Amino acid sequence: MDSINKQKILIIGAGGGREHALGWKIAQSPRAGQIFFAPGNAGTERIGTNVDIKSNDILKLLDFAKKEKVDLTLAVSDEPLYLGVVDEFRKRGLRIWGPTKAASQIEWSKVFSKDFMHRHNLPTAEFQTFSDYQKAKYYAMRQSLPVVIKVDGLAFGKGVIIANTHDEACKAIEDILVKKIFSDSGNEVVIEEFLIGPEISIHVLSDGINYKIFPSSQDHKRIGEGDTGGNTGGMGVIGPLPFVNKEIMEKIEKEIIAPTLRAMEEDGIPFEGILYPSLMLTTDGPKIIEFNARFGDPEAQTYMRLLDTDLLDILDACVDKKLDKIEIKWREKFACNIALASGGYPGNYEKGKIIGGIDEAEMQPDIIVFHAGTIMKNRTLVTNGGRVLGVSATAGTLEEALKKAYKAIDKISFEGMQYRRDIGKKALAQILILK
Ligand code: AMP
Ligand code: GLY
Repeated sequence: MDSINKQKILIIGAGGGREHALGWKIAQSPRAGQIFFAPGNAGTERIGTNVDIKSNDILKLLDFAKKEKVDLTLAVSDEPLYLGVVDEFRKRGLRIWGPTKAASQIEWSKVFSKDFMHRHNLPTAEFQTFSDYQKAKYYAMRQSLPVVIKVDGLAFGKGVIIANTHDEACKAIEDILVKKIFSDSGNEVVIEEFLIGPEISIHVLSDGINYKIFPSSQDHKRIGEGDTGGNTGGMGVIGPLPFVNKEIMEKIEKEIIAPTLRAMEEDGIPFEGILYPSLMLTTDGPKIIEFNARFGDPEAQTYMRLLDTDLLDILDACVDKKLDKIEIKWREKFACNIALASGGYPGNYEKGKIIGGIDEAEMQPDIIVFHAGTIMKNRTLVTNGGRVLGVSATAGTLEEALKKAYKAIDKISFEGMQYRRDIGKKALAQILILK
């Protein structure tokens, strides 16, 4: 073992459960050396070294990677990608995994992404884009309800408004284009058709030439049970989905994944990294809701519990454009990851609440607790964000995995803790007849 050349890794992200899960998996590689997290949380601190640099401070990150002689950096959240972290690292000869600024535009500009889908005939909701308030309003008033209004740029998960009345739609457009509540992110809006069907997450790893599709998964974005209340970063993920069979996955590959990656290459922006489209399985076939240019959170946590191949080997193969040379194996299991959030989230919430019971939860079989908004204060673990922890479980069936996760959650407590008790319920009841 000593002869193995250990790699120093830097994970640049949002300090959430996704980053903890990726680090947790990488730490299992015999080739993993020190793992740095910028910024990290109390969970990442246990498996590596937290670095007090914000993920949007690209210059400081560059200096750090150089000084520490980091062998491989992973860019895993949207903001640094938008700021061109991959381009900047490469310019200085540093090895980094993730899409370029131009390729990640597929996530950070909804106008770009919708135009791209339109130009390449990719299946998505009917839409128009506007920068003029009067024209946008005129168009919105003529659409059937509900109608979807989207802010062009990054909006921290608050940029999609599903308007149930024309008044609501006009108010949203005014807020964005006139009142500028999203500042320059809202210089343009997309107005689009409301799609109906189960929403699923697809992750595909691409090195710009080859690609590998991950099993299907599903997030639960609303705070409330029965998909009610405000949108969140994601309250729970399950995977693989029992209602997404091989035929559906093949259809998704043929109609969405392969043509998208080909189109990006044709446009001179080959995609390297994780491309994560959210899809709606409509009665007209799968349609793209949006593209993300990174791992989902908590999708990543679920995938890391299912992955059976060394993640470092996979990422190295990806950076070296040799994804065709590696087989990605998945455990024959189902996994879930359920978010435990602060009281008040996704609105205002308090921090600094003492967290108890993680060790007891992890003593139960097949449970791993990933940290998100956590910090050590005076040797005590306390809450430090909206989504605080993710409790993940694996089992031979989805029902069993969920049962295990909820049983483990019973051991964990902090003041105001809230979570959805219906994760996976809809998927278990889903019977899908797809065209
Ligand atoms: P986002 O904040 O971009 O992740 O989008 C939030 C959520 O809005 C998505 O996860 C969908 O559930 C919903 N959504 C976005 N676009 C549409 C659409 N065209 N039809 C129906 N729901 C949509
Ligand atoms: N799972 C939602 C997201 O990462 O955007």
